Amino acid sequence: MLEHDVVIIGGGLAGCRAALEISRLAPNLKLALVAKTHPIRSHSVAAQGGMAATLKNVDDQDSWSAHAFDTVKGSDYLADQDAVAILTQEAPEVVIDLEHLGVLFSRLEDGRIAQRAFGGHSHNRTCYAADKTGHAILHELYNNIRKYGVQIYEEWYVMRLILEDNQAKGVVMYHLLDGEIVVLRAKAVMFATGGYGRVYNTTSNDYASTGDGLSMTALAGVPLEDMEFVQFHPTGLYPAGVLISEAVRGEGAYLVNSEGDRFMTTYAPSRMELAPRDITSRAITTEIRAGRGINLDGSAGGPFVHLDLRHMGKEKIMSRVPFCWEEAHRLAGVDAVVQPIPVRPTVHYCMGGIPVNTDGQVRSGAEGLVESFFSAGETSCVSVHGANRLGSNSLLECVVYGRRTGAAIARYVQDRKQPEIDQQRYLQEAQAQIQALLDQPGEYRLGQIRQQFQDCMTDYCGVFRTADLMQRGLTQLRQLQQLYLQTRLDDKGKLWNTELMEAFELRNLIIVGEMIITGALHRQESRGAHFREDFPQRDDDSFLKHTLAYYSPAGVDLQYMSVNTSMFQPQERKY
Ligand code: FUM
Repeated sequence: MLEHDVVIIGGGLAGCRAALEISRLAPNLKLALVAKTHPIRSHSVAAQGGMAATLKNVDDQDSWSAHAFDTVKGSDYLADQDAVAILTQEAPEVVIDLEHLGVLFSRLEDGRIAQRAFGGHSHNRTCYAADKTGHAILHELYNNIRKYGVQIYEEWYVMRLILEDNQAKGVVMYHLLDGEIVVLRAKAVMFATGGYGRVYNTTSNDYASTGDGLSMTALAGVPLEDMEFVQFHPTGLYPAGVLISEAVRGEGAYLVNSEGDRFMTTYAPSRMELAPRDITSRAITTEIRAGRGINLDGSAGGPFVHLDLRHMGKEKIMSRVPFCWEEAHRLAGVDAVVQPIPVRPTVHYCMGGIPVNTDGQVRSGAEGLVESFFSAGETSCVSVHGANRLGSNSLLECVVYGRRTGAAIARYVQDRKQPEIDQQRYLQEAQAQIQALLDQPGEYRLGQIRQQFQDCMTDYCGVFRTADLMQRGLTQLRQLQQLYLQTRLDDKGKLWNTELMEAFELRNLIIVGEMIITGALHRQESRGAHFREDFPQRDDDSFLKHTLAYYSPAGVDLQYMSVNTSMFQPQERKY
């Protein structure tokens, strides 16, 4: 059995920032970071537009309380406001700390960190490194944790969270290289495993975003919070779905329909293209549904709208958003200096996740906490985003709450002993689980079931939802759960068996999908990214509350938890 004081699962921004904080505060701790890819291939590396913080470098009227208000309003008042206050107050210092670590932010003429406009933010406060901000930050964090000697287990797939008697004790993990199965025990376990974009068929997320940490947590009996809130980013490149950053609109690009209209005048006249994502995604989808989308031959009635940068000019495009230009060129054959980019909404972010307090400790329900179990980043829900996240608040959340969670863990483990674990039992169960998958005499390929599942979630639980649609989705999803048990794996070997990992990932995706759809079905209101055509209004009397979803193979059980509204009272949300 492997043994560490602390194990962090996930090598993205939140995991690396937590590892750095633990190393700084308690360098004597034996710290492990486990990731199913190499850490700098984690999805954080793909973050483009930036990270919000009230540095006031371009707007001295900005303040943390304005940032907090924008975030809460953007969340459609579901965010926990104590957590938002921490996020926005700590933002400037975490950015400066990153700069000191070596992150190469873009600069103003006078050398200070540049800041740009972003959707739903009332001031220009998004710090950035061109449109490769995640890349710039993750590489420096990784360099820094290597310097501290954090032990990195890369390309190890964590199969199971060991949680007994309300205490996290470690994980069971599988080495992709050679099929070795190992139990790792620790005094504290942290999940920073990212999101679940691959639940849907069109997403900006990488292939590894399969909700593994979410599903393992749910299987261990811990609830997941607010899973019905799925963020659709308005500008996914058509047809690939990869991200064309909001920074492009922050720098001045227009959204235009088949009639040549800047249609955002209808939906958010005061903010136009820089309205929050939920509103902009619904606007684009509404235009497309109304026949004002565009086809590849330029005719009306097609599946996308245009993002027009041409008036920005080549110099600005190439210096501020060069990666977006490159993506459009490489993947859609469009030169954005002279042609508009075809875009439509793409699944981008999960607002919900593993419920945590503001120290990153996992909640066991509305009241209690799970011992030794922590989480931060997209996989967690401290609920700073509520029902709809503002762009450039997620890198911020990873760094602020990664740092806080790391600090909390460093304190927490000081006087704790290693937990007792029946290693043989966990090894045997993992081996049996793998063997059962390898022996399954099924008639379906994983890819077939995954595609049907992703189509099901996209068709039945997308930007616009109704009870009827979601019921049909749930019925189909249950059938797919059965078909999953009839899949056949061709690779029976131990060396680099990615098919086996895909089988685990698909199980996780389906569990997460069931939790999304069940939460969405029971939330009979429209709030943020969750829009019910059969309940088009927000209903604070009945639904100003967080969903807590408990998974079991028999179905998902829902409970609810109150929202912290200590700063701003809910108001009608207009832009
Ligand atoms: O559009 C973007 O660059 C994405 C930023 C974010 O999700 O925070």
